Amino acid sequence: MKLICANFKMNLRNSDIKNYLNVIKDKVKENVVFFPTSLYLKDFKENGYTIGSQNISFKDMGSVTGDISVLQLKDIGIDYTIIGHSERREFFNDNLYVDKKINLALNNDVKVILCIGENLEEFENKKTLDILKKELDDAIENNLDVINNDNLIIAYEPIWAIGTGKIPTSDILNKTNLEIKNYLNSKYDLSLRVLYGGSVNLENIEFLEKINSIDGYLIGGASLNPEKFLSLINKVN
Ligand code: 13P
Repeated sequence: MKLICANFKMNLRNSDIKNYLNVIKDKVKENVVFFPTSLYLKDFKENGYTIGSQNISFKDMGSVTGDISVLQLKDIGIDYTIIGHSERREFFNDNLYVDKKINLALNNDVKVILCIGENLEEFENKKTLDILKKELDDAIENNLDVINNDNLIIAYEPIWAIGTGKIPTSDILNKTNLEIKNYLNSKYDLSLRVLYGGSVNLENIEFLEKINSIDGYLIGGASLNPEKFLSLINKVN
């Protein structure tokens, strides 16, 4: 079964979450992980769902105002965390912290969804593979002792595809996924799952499902409406 990750980002309020949980009750399989805003993680956990945080602090505990420790998140039952999302790399300089955060997560038995992806200019200048390799090296090189084939999952999210309705052609997406897998295999002897993220929706899911190298999805906007999200995940094998 493919892994499906619902990243709500900074969306949905208290009443929306209550409604969401009512709508999806008894309709979601175990391969779905919810990444609501941290405030609502407990609501999903208490209703029996697998949960992940959208981020963790770069420190384990202490004086970091506004951050949340992986230990605190672990206490409320997260099994996963997203690290290196392009929005965090852009707004919070997360390029600097990706390897520390991965280390903290994996040392505390929290699985990591590592986001990598190129921007439009890099894509147009055929720099995609260079960017992806650098983001992979930054994340993995210092953490080889804690990474295994199950606890680190790559999410390939072209930045130009996030929230734009655009997605790569099937040839490009397949080629890029295979390049990521081959690189990880030859350089680090790792066989990691590679998810796709960026404008996954009800209209393109059947197209994406034909691409064999996709091991799952990281879904933003299309996970926010519970009825539509249910229709979407029902189309994933
Ligand atoms: P959208 O599905 O809204 O394009 O967002 C993708 C994403 O960034 C998921 O992490």
